[in-house]
Amino acid sequence: MSKAEIGVIGLGTMGAMLALNIADNGFSVAVHNRTAARIPEFMDMAGPLGERITGHATLEDFVAGLAQPRNIVLMVPAGDAVDAQIAQLRPLLDEDDMIIDAGNANFHDTQRRAKDAEDAGVPYLGIGVSGGAEGARFGPSIMGGGTREAWDRVAHILEKISAKYEDHPCATYMGAGGAGHFVKTVHNGIEYADMQLIAEAYGVLRDGLGKDAAACASIFDKWNEGPLQSYLIEISGKVAEATDPETGAPMLDMILDRAGQKGTGRWTVIESQMLGTPVPVIEAAVVARNMSAARDLRLAGAAAFGTPDRTIAEDALTLGDLEQALIAGKVLCYAQGFDLLGKASTDYGWSLPMAEIAKVWREGCIIRSAMLNDMAAALSDAPDQNLALAPYFHKILEDNIAGLRKVAVVAMTAGQPVPALAAALNYFDTLISARTTANMLQAQRDYFGAHSFERTDAEGAHHGPWLDQHLQG
Ligand code: 6PG
Repeated sequence: MSKAEIGVIGLGTMGAMLALNIADNGFSVAVHNRTAARIPEFMDMAGPLGERITGHATLEDFVAGLAQPRNIVLMVPAGDAVDAQIAQLRPLLDEDDMIIDAGNANFHDTQRRAKDAEDAGVPYLGIGVSGGAEGARFGPSIMGGGTREAWDRVAHILEKISAKYEDHPCATYMGAGGAGHFVKTVHNGIEYADMQLIAEAYGVLRDGLGKDAAACASIFDKWNEGPLQSYLIEISGKVAEATDPETGAPMLDMILDRAGQKGTGRWTVIESQMLGTPVPVIEAAVVARNMSAARDLRLAGAAAFGTPDRTIAEDALTLGDLEQALIAGKVLCYAQGFDLLGKASTDYGWSLPMAEIAKVWREGCIIRSAMLNDMAAALSDAPDQNLALAPYFHKILEDNIAGLRKVAVVAMTAGQPVPALAAALNYFDTLISARTTANMLQAQRDYFGAHSFERTDAEGAHHGPWLDQHLQG
């Protein structure tokens, strides 16, 4: 068999699915896994695709089985495992051989690894891959970072294996170093927020309006035919209608309310704080996951204070209000995510292609939705503008903000937590404030620390009359 066009290291679910996808698209693939016993299992799974796949039990054989210059995809757990794999692999490679990290890396790690590669004069790519196992197998969304030449070298493979939106491949070069992994991180932050907004709507349906799981499923299904059409709404309908094979009860009712996370949502929030660009809906979503995980504390709280009856009167809130709330919340959450991408683009010198980011998310990834096509159009017209101010989304917000306000007020009055919806509303209300209350903060800062403030009627730094008084005692 001739040498393989590309290699994949790491045959966990994502790596295995990606290798099958590459082979399915007509490329020859060499694979390797640290635990060699996994390789024959994988070859069995590959079936007829195995004709284009060679399994290699040692790293040396794997390297020898690849056509030069070599292109090697790493699908190993993010973090130290990637550094360890690179350290093992690099000495076996030639100068023009390229390592491509396709895991969910922290973009700071990718920046560092790209710099190390640059210093060593070897090519390196960090690519964000979204779409879960099904996406990896049949077409993920791919966000590339590294040098343009490195990307161009494998673009034909990545574009071929990616999801397609009306024939347009969802695989795009984002910029140098960690740009691809940064875009993937923000994707995941938005993913957390979108999921949390939907979970809050489900909470209002379940606890406020007394809907059972089946009723929730039909509501999600109906929403999926309108402006909220998206993969996450679609699967929310599917999970709500599923039955637990063990008890016959709705599956949702049998799932403990303690959410896990691997950290990408948290990274988005940390970066937003470092870059000074607020993403409060994403922040609320990360906090909500942390609160869900603090189950013992919640049980103690419920025992100490009692959980109120959260019933909402039927005439107090309609399903239309709830749909509006999700539409407005979603627009505001994406507006925040794209703002963060814009700020990072400037600060890290990436020139991120804002409209292309929206386009690459239209298919294959977890946050794919109908709205992303309109976001791409708005960002092509004005890449630096907050999406909420783009004419198309301005109109959507005007039409739907009343629903968001009503849901937030009614739910909070009933004692129902809706942190992401409330964060979206507070963001909007602040966004439209020509005058906030930060004059009070500035006065306080000046009073206790002589930090000075700007005046409304004059340029420069000023102090209040209090300084002399209180510092002189
Ligand atoms: C994707 C997902 C994926 C992520 C999972 C789990 O785009 O395919 O974002 O990369 O790892 O969704 O994330 P959490 O465990 O943090 O929820």
